[in-house]
Amino acid sequence: MSAPTEHSTLLPPSQHTPRDGQNGAGRHKESRLSLITRIIIWGTLTLVFAVGLILLLGFKHVLSDKFHSLFGGLSKDPMTAALTVLDKAPIIDGHIDLPVLTRALYANNVTAIDLESPMPQHVDIPRLRKGKVGAFFWSVYMECPLPEDEDNDFLTPTWSVRDTLEQIDVARGLIDKYPDTFQLATGTEDIRAAIHDGKIASLLGVEGGHQLGNSLAVLRQYYALGVRYVTLTHTCHNAFADSCGFLPGIIPFHGGLSALGQTLIDEMNRLGVLVDLSHTSDATAAQALAHSKAPVIWSHSSARAIHDVPRNVPDYILRMIGTGEDQKDAVVMVNFAPFFIAPPGKANIEAVADHIVHIALIAGKEHVGLGSDYDGIGTVPEGLEDVSKYPALIAELYKRGWNKYELAGLAGGNLLRVFKGAEKVSRELQAAGQQPAYDLYSKRKDIPRVEF
Ligand SMILES: *[C@@H]1O[C@H](CO)[C@@H](O)[C@H](O)[C@H]1NC(C)=O
Ligand SMILES: [Zn+2]
Repeated sequence: MSAPTEHSTLLPPSQHTPRDGQNGAGRHKESRLSLITRIIIWGTLTLVFAVGLILLLGFKHVLSDKFHSLFGGLSKDPMTAALTVLDKAPIIDGHIDLPVLTRALYANNVTAIDLESPMPQHVDIPRLRKGKVGAFFWSVYMECPLPEDEDNDFLTPTWSVRDTLEQIDVARGLIDKYPDTFQLATGTEDIRAAIHDGKIASLLGVEGGHQLGNSLAVLRQYYALGVRYVTLTHTCHNAFADSCGFLPGIIPFHGGLSALGQTLIDEMNRLGVLVDLSHTSDATAAQALAHSKAPVIWSHSSARAIHDVPRNVPDYILRMIGTGEDQKDAVVMVNFAPFFIAPPGKANIEAVADHIVHIALIAGKEHVGLGSDYDGIGTVPEGLEDVSKYPALIAELYKRGWNKYELAGLAGGNLLRVFKGAEKVSRELQAAGQQPAYDLYSKRKDIPRVEF
């Protein structure tokens, strides 16, 4: 055998190569037969392929779920679809009141609380897991001073700052107590990392400007302790801004933001603390939305057009949200409290979905989120009894035609975008050299004003 050359075949010669001397008629017949066979085989295969393709494209909806999901679609079953979305994009709730429940029922004794067992009210670890929660803001809240204890200048001393520090202590104590479940988070990268590690990112939000004791220094120290939103007011006016009160609402005091309130927003923008407009008056909300350089949130508010209470956001303010000129990015995180959702006895999961759909209709689907107020509300809508029920709400929106990207945004993606936007503004302001604001509340007399 000669050595292989450039022109040798890589494969050995076929066994069926006719030997020299075989008659020509036989060879001709054999090749005609194999041609017919080949035509039949290829024709059949092409037909099978074409029929398959037509079935897949034209009758996708009649195929089994499992087959369907191979093409990136969601299950036909709404709950299965919701769980699929939430596995990738878990719930980020804007407002959960576990810390104040700890104060009210356990005298702030973190040791006495067992979050791995069934808890009173709406929140414990098994139900958070069942509800596919990836993150939430732990609301650190102290109620407003009683009107009779408050003067017109907000100068009556209160325990609000002490009590807020105790709330932060309780929240951080519970977060630290369950390191396999909770992870303190102070930014969007922390949220992503915690979710990636299978933990529940835990953020802190202060629910009311009265908890700042009129002081921007207190804001900075709350920030240092991990606080990443401040609701400008609770149900009372404060030195910074007007509240909407509760039901039926209250008479305005400043007519929206005070000058100090504007400075507060500037300082929140600089620090990267989200401006939360839940509980504020309409004038406060409209002015803050216009004044803030950073995107803002409503941590727990619903739609006034669906249920007319002052705590819900009116359409004219929803129209100020967006990316157009004279608009600002924001997310309205829908509150589940029955008295904000529907007339007495009518609050259910469908009614909550109606609020979501309305906010989406006016502001856009990328501007709505969830801020349940669990543990802060005495009663709950039918079908949304506790934190295990979020998937049912996502399923309800799926039934109403929301696609997986829209559902992921509602679950938490929209909040992440807005928060990221606020972080960017903070970095830019600091890079531009904006200094901390040392303005004092003008009516304070305890600190001598020095002329420099
Ligand atoms: C806190 O709770 C633990 C566990 O129930 C209990 O042993 C402890 O005495 C409580 N502490 C106070 C100060 O009540
Ligand atoms: Zn509230």
